[in-house]
Amino acid sequence: MSYYERVKEASEFIKSKIPNVPEIAIILGSGLGSFADTMEEKIEIKYSEIPHFPVSTVKGHKGNLVFGKVKGREVLAFQGRFHLYEGYNAQEVVFGVRAAGLLGVKNLIVTNAAGGISPLLSPGDLMVIKDHINLSGENPAIGSEAEKFGERFFDMTYAYDREIIEKSKDVYKKNGVDYKEGIYAFLKGPSYETPSEIRMLKILGADAVGMSTVLEVIAARQMNIKVFGISCITNMAAGILEKKLSHEEVIEVSKMVEEKFIKIISDLIEII
Ligand code: 6GU
Repeated sequence: MSYYERVKEASEFIKSKIPNVPEIAIILGSGLGSFADTMEEKIEIKYSEIPHFPVSTVKGHKGNLVFGKVKGREVLAFQGRFHLYEGYNAQEVVFGVRAAGLLGVKNLIVTNAAGGISPLLSPGDLMVIKDHINLSGENPAIGSEAEKFGERFFDMTYAYDREIIEKSKDVYKKNGVDYKEGIYAFLKGPSYETPSEIRMLKILGADAVGMSTVLEVIAARQMNIKVFGISCITNMAAGILEKKLSHEEVIEVSKMVEEKFIKIISDLIEII
């Protein structure tokens, strides 16, 4: 069975389990998965039940697809995602996004935990992603199969939807949360960067750095899905502060901002 057929079959399976095609999908990053618990009229599907779906292996990541309502709007939430550093290839990393795209989902919210590089960012900030820098050397649109999902060469000028970004500013204001925006640099990981690598990323124009999201955004844009992204700044990147980085800190800080994160995301879903 071809990759496209596998994604199609997964998509058909998901369709058979939910009452309607949701307008919005959301991918919940490290420590942010509990957003799905706040949804109403939930239908939970384990990734392991979905034909051909990869299974996630990282601490703090669950493996559930949750359909439900947020402020009256139907949403499909991915509780847990797939990373290159787990050993998945780019096609597998974007499997869920493509399945959602074949379902007919028109908007995708991507979230992640990221290290702050810009001096304007602090741990606990929710940075709206304005653009990204793909330093992984990977692209999910490579290969003949990818052409079944959209054009061979597609625009990335407005990868992150300008209209949704504008609307998000009002949502931050309404919730009394400091609006932050920036450029997200994507590296494969799983080691965090060295201080020298962080200085390089700063020169390149990156404000934050992480190990996810970008391949999903590329796959979504190929399918003409509108994208909005938020990075939860869980720590400062290497060499910015005189301290070591740890995954435990990443999870801890993302848990601390969860309440703020849930408010922002819910209000945004209402107005997308
Ligand atoms: Cl500092 N780097 C990367 N690559 N990912 C992260 C991070 C840093 N902090 C959270 N996630």
